[in-house]
Amino acid sequence: MIVFPGYEESIQRVYENKQDQVFAHWQQLDDTQRKKLLTDLTAVNFEQCAAQFSEASSNTAVEVQGFGPADFIRRPGRGGDAAAFKQARDTGLAHLRAGKLCAFVVAGGQGSRLGYDGPKGAFQISPVRNKSLFQIHTEKLLKYSRKYGVELPFFIMTSQANHEATVEHFKQHAWFGMNPDNIRFFPQNMIPSLDTAGKLVLDGPDSLFRNPDGHGGSLTALQSSGALAEMKKRGIETISYFQVDNPTVAIIDPEFIGFHLQGAAEVSTKVLTKAFAEEKVGNLVRFDDGRTGVVEYSDLSPELACSTNSDGSLRFQAGSIGIHLFQRDFVERLGGSSQFALPFHVARKKIKAWTPEGTSEIDAFKFEKFVFDALPLASATVSLEVLREDEFAPVKNRDGLDSIENSRQLMMDQHRRWLNERGIEIPPTVRTIEISPLLAVEAADLPAELRIPAEANIYLD
Ligand code: UD1
Repeated sequence: MIVFPGYEESIQRVYENKQDQVFAHWQQLDDTQRKKLLTDLTAVNFEQCAAQFSEASSNTAVEVQGFGPADFIRRPGRGGDAAAFKQARDTGLAHLRAGKLCAFVVAGGQGSRLGYDGPKGAFQISPVRNKSLFQIHTEKLLKYSRKYGVELPFFIMTSQANHEATVEHFKQHAWFGMNPDNIRFFPQNMIPSLDTAGKLVLDGPDSLFRNPDGHGGSLTALQSSGALAEMKKRGIETISYFQVDNPTVAIIDPEFIGFHLQGAAEVSTKVLTKAFAEEKVGNLVRFDDGRTGVVEYSDLSPELACSTNSDGSLRFQAGSIGIHLFQRDFVERLGGSSQFALPFHVARKKIKAWTPEGTSEIDAFKFEKFVFDALPLASATVSLEVLREDEFAPVKNRDGLDSIENSRQLMMDQHRRWLNERGIEIPPTVRTIEISPLLAVEAADLPAELRIPAEANIYLD
């Protein structure tokens, strides 16, 4: 057994769990490297690794069975009750104006699929000014804050890969006008990947191969980073959660908040009608025991995804778009109890593993938590329908589906619709158009007397 002062217990745990292959090159390491490797190993939860491996290798991981389509609140004009929406709005506004809301974005991802080497949130997307996703979201929050006369703190989950670059992006742009005291960054946790024999893998002589623990890890990271405690201190009761890759998200939505509160929900979620059967969005379901949940597109068989009702509509038509509300005390309960822990989803992937003989590609298991697995753990949930054109323009790929171009076009379409709604004429010369969130986050914010010059590129602020 190797020895290193101060790490006796950690070393013993490594041997007890038969993971001492990670010490095969111990003699070649200097003391700094030894300490670094041992620090990584000290953070490993070996019991959890063993349980994850046993599930992954026996193929019983997150077996989704026994569910049907779930119901949701429909919008007025699509079967919903306009009066109920008005009432929900009033309830939501009162909660919002009382300072009980904050915004929370999961932004652990990199822009690699977009061909961009940096945090996904720093990717520049707006059609005229080329604003980054982070700028759009922050300016929206500033606008909501002014509009509703209340401070709206912004919590941003990063990852180890992009934490510094994310903070730097905000610093360089003077926090996009927001008071930095109201922005809090924290990185998500990482968990070890395992090879197909359940062994820990190295990605360098002194470091374990680990991957971010999925956006489901955000709920534990909120707790471990102290963000939840800060929310509590600020009197925040409800967390408005969204994904960084969606520039048209209505981050603060009084109707959604109102329905969530009226339903005494601990978690609520927004859904839309899927564009086609196998669209890559989570599916809103009702499990046989009555609980609501989301089954990820990759876990729904093509037969089920394509199954239809007698009128030809899709049985599973409600797609989850990664927009949720969480009650703070629910997240506290989740973070503090292993009984409530979210399950891990496993993906078998090729990874670059380091060994003393060199680096090679191996098959490995990567584990991730999905935030929507919190839905079935809640005592009550609310699912609200939204219109795709109002709230969903995700930028996921360079080309093809959910592309950069698509997302830009959807943003412009939305802004054109707002102007039309307000009776503001758009001259035929206009090719690209962008409305600053500081001017409007919905049509009603636009001054009706606004005049648009006859030019090709229009930016309204
Ligand atoms: C996700 C959802 C899907 C939903 C769709 C809507 C999952 C598993 N599925 O799919 O149900 O319909 O978005 O756009 O999420 N992130 C982190 N840390 C992580 C992993 C992800 O912060 O460890 C963030 C990313 O930065 C991104 C968001 O979570 O903002 C979504 O992740 P992504 O991997 O792009 O999910 P999708 O497969 O697109």
